[in-house]
Amino acid sequence: MTTSNNQLIAQQAVRRRTFAIISHPDAGKTTLTEKFLLYGGRVEVAGAVRGRKTLRATASDWMEIEKQRGISVSSTVLPFEYQGYQINLLDTPGHHDFSEDTYRTLMATDCAVMVIDLAKGVEPQTQKLFRVCALRKIPVLTFINKVDRPGLDPLAVISEIEAKLQIEPVPMNWPIGSGLDFGGLVDLATHQAYLFDKTSGDLRVPYETIPLDRLHQQNLRAGIAHHALEEVELLHSAGARFDPQRFLSGSATPVFFGSALKNYGIEHFLRAFLDLCPSPSPRRSNLGLIPPAAADFSGFVFKIQANLDPRHRDRVAFVRICGGRFERDMEVLHERTGNRVRLGRAHLVFGRERETIDEAFPGDIVGLVNPGVFRLGDTLCEGQPLRYEPLPQFPPEHFAILRCPSSDRRKQFERGLNQLIEEGAIQVFVDPRASHQELILGAVGELQFDVVRYRLESEYLTQTTIEWLPFKSARWIASAPGDTTPPRLRLPYGTRIVKDQYGGTAVLLQSQWDSDLLTRDNKHVQIMTVRDAATADFELSESEIAQANR
Ligand code: G4P
Repeated sequence: MTTSNNQLIAQQAVRRRTFAIISHPDAGKTTLTEKFLLYGGRVEVAGAVRGRKTLRATASDWMEIEKQRGISVSSTVLPFEYQGYQINLLDTPGHHDFSEDTYRTLMATDCAVMVIDLAKGVEPQTQKLFRVCALRKIPVLTFINKVDRPGLDPLAVISEIEAKLQIEPVPMNWPIGSGLDFGGLVDLATHQAYLFDKTSGDLRVPYETIPLDRLHQQNLRAGIAHHALEEVELLHSAGARFDPQRFLSGSATPVFFGSALKNYGIEHFLRAFLDLCPSPSPRRSNLGLIPPAAADFSGFVFKIQANLDPRHRDRVAFVRICGGRFERDMEVLHERTGNRVRLGRAHLVFGRERETIDEAFPGDIVGLVNPGVFRLGDTLCEGQPLRYEPLPQFPPEHFAILRCPSSDRRKQFERGLNQLIEEGAIQVFVDPRASHQELILGAVGELQFDVVRYRLESEYLTQTTIEWLPFKSARWIASAPGDTTPPRLRLPYGTRIVKDQYGGTAVLLQSQWDSDLLTRDNKHVQIMTVRDAATADFELSESEIAQANR
């Protein structure tokens, strides 16, 4: 590897910004994504974002669309250039297609933008997604959206962020009024106010910049300027200062107000985003931290997506490049199996389009057409063999038993299910104590069950019936390495202790109440919401699946 090649990798890595937007449905993620793309010059693409959302309107429509078009509606990465940066915006499906993939995608980002609706505050899905960012200490910028509409008291929303998410919110700007009375934004660092031209519908809304002490002279409704100045004074005396180190370590989040729809504050936010969002940082592996500018290529699979088109039914493994340079047709080590694989069919998957990729750098995502070789969490590398940290396992929220009513399709059913479990399309649990053992399937999103059933039907020609179980969540019980005896637990009524596909012990719960009781009554064990998966070798074999289904 030559010095100039190393320099090229370093230069390219430094200009990458790989991030995701997290939010509760309707907070404005799609609108903000469009604005990112519009400012980034991918105008034609912005419409596609809205289009995709419309297509996702209902779960059944979504399946229909998958079937008719033979594509997956949910894209994985929206790449675009902006002011010399290569920005990779990773898509985090949020509505009906909210699934474990949404969480796993966050494992491949370097930063997240959290969108909060000013009228709603911190909502449940935001909280869940934020927890995943917190798990990996991913830096988070906060955008409080819809200042053009009447909302909650901004100070109350700030307090809520702190209370619910346990992160220090540091306001960077502050709204002057809201709804019809919205006058503009105060930049808390420069003490200037930006007064937007509210009659302009343009992307770049014209605004006047004035020093804060002239705010009183503006034509704002009585009390608005006074109130805003009081709040700014209050924030000032509270003394919250933005500390880049605390942001990068996930302890503090800079907070920006604005309106994605009306473009208020968007330009400032994007500029701040480019300043703050880190370029790819070193990643943890069994060999220690691997720097992006490493001479050798390495990356990990964070998502596997099946193409539901019966004409070319391939699977795409999405790889986040962590170090070195990817080149099409390169041969790399597939660390889990020890085999060498040639990365021939590499794509940039963008919405419905697939563009062949010739080279890519740390922070980029490439889609590899996967002939069943890759699994979630797999590491691909050149040079000295290394393994990136395993992907965590997230608690499912829906549980069910799938059955194959036709006895002559049982074999195909078992093979198909086993394949889908391996792919990570769905989680699986077994109750070792049950007299009649059946596989309990678990998924973060209900749509995952639809996809599994659809694929069993179309790829393995197997009809299934489904029996929903009353569980709503799971908690894992930590055990020491090599410890095979299940811990003694006091279980709340109606819960079930099970093994997951990696041999971990989990408890299936029907409510938050159960979860609280489990924690209260079992202080002698460590109870985990998220499990760092799969260092264990244990996997259910086809024969075990067959036995469990009998
Ligand atoms: P999501 O992806 O987070 O689900 O939200 P999305 O951007 O689709 O926004 C949800 C709704 O909120 C949309 O309205 C959108 O126009 C609106 N919205 C987004 N940002 C703002 C904002 O800054 N101010 C105001 N007033 N509204 C905003 P919709 O009627 O549901 O959809 P559409 O008909 O506009 O597409």
